[in-house]
Amino acid sequence: MAAGTDILFEAFKSEKLTLPNRIVMAPMTRSFSPGHVPGDNVVEYYRRRAEGGVGLILTEGVSPNTTTATGTPNVPNIVTDDAKAGWKNVVDSVKGAGGKIGIQLWHEGPFRNPSKTEFPDIPSWSASGHKMPGKALWEPMNDDEIELAITEFVDAAVASKEAGFDCIEFHGAHSYLIDSFFWDKSNIRDDQWGGDWTGRTRFACEIIKRTRAKLGNDYPLIIRLSQWKQQDFDANSAANPDELSKWLTPLVDAGIDIFHCSQRRFWEPTFDGSDLNFAGWAAKLTGKPSISVGSVGLSGEFTAAYSGEVSKPASLDNLVARMERNEFDLIAVGRALLQDAQWANKIREGRNDELMEFTKDALATLE
Ligand SMILES: Cc1cc2nc3c(=O)[nH]c(=O)nc-3n(C[C@H](O)[C@H](O)[C@H](O)COP(=O)(O)O)c2cc1C
Repeated sequence: MAAGTDILFEAFKSEKLTLPNRIVMAPMTRSFSPGHVPGDNVVEYYRRRAEGGVGLILTEGVSPNTTTATGTPNVPNIVTDDAKAGWKNVVDSVKGAGGKIGIQLWHEGPFRNPSKTEFPDIPSWSASGHKMPGKALWEPMNDDEIELAITEFVDAAVASKEAGFDCIEFHGAHSYLIDSFFWDKSNIRDDQWGGDWTGRTRFACEIIKRTRAKLGNDYPLIIRLSQWKQQDFDANSAANPDELSKWLTPLVDAGIDIFHCSQRRFWEPTFDGSDLNFAGWAAKLTGKPSISVGSVGLSGEFTAAYSGEVSKPASLDNLVARMERNEFDLIAVGRALLQDAQWANKIREGRNDELMEFTKDALATLE
């Protein structure tokens, strides 16, 4: 093992989830599932990452319904019988390679463009019908739609456990449906689903509570959160630690086990006066394990990669230092693992001269 990165390869043991090491493959949409069914190419893609020594794979975002959840082409769901069977093949293959895998359940909410979907007449869902503050594109969800959305998430969670996934991650970040309820700029409702943090966390809490009731107390549930929004990288859902506590505590009470705290650069502090990052604050305030993410092992951040920025391999020293002082428990790695399925093994074995730069080409093939 290479000196200096040992902490990444220590086992992770929590109440409900045990992993052989601390490296998590970040959820990354691939759009390679025609008919929304994950096929053999998806099986191979995830199996290669399990063989590459990752401690936990989190899948690309997976739709919990066939209607409103996605406008992105060829995104898989876990709703139809074919899709459920496809995911079972993925899980079996990853486990056959000695890996562990969780599914990310993703509803795009306001970021679905109806005109680009099979159901252009079905409006998109969001807390207040706003994609951008002040710009109403759709009506706010009504109570029936909210109830349907919750039920669909819970059914998808049940199907995910049946397919054999080791855990479930709810995508509650990046301005998508669940996050549209959290953020006070995109949730301006004045009913029980809006208002203060109790109201704005209610939608997520109902999904979590009802999932917990169906899946039992031992099944690990993760939620991914972000302060930043797609339409505003500098946004902060929580302005200070007290607000963050009001955001996270109801989610813990509802049954969340692990927080996955999305940042574009993991080393950036979340609040003034402390260099703790978002995952560090989540762990400190809740006592729950947390996952950090953002530009691990690469010089540039992921949104710039879409416009062609090439990222060079970068030092892991800052990451190692933070993990050695227990700021957070797990680290998710996105593009480095997209580019190179063997990334974790190369780090463990100190094969630094074999690490690759990340180019936009990897986004086109997603092999
Ligand atoms: C191609 C691509 C697809 C992504 N799709 C998702 C997704 O489906 N769900 C999600 O939560 N994040 C998604 N992300 C964000 C990643 O999970 C991760 O947070 C981001 O890439 C930062 O990590 P990195 O700097 O190690 O790449 C995606 C990122 C990339 C590059």
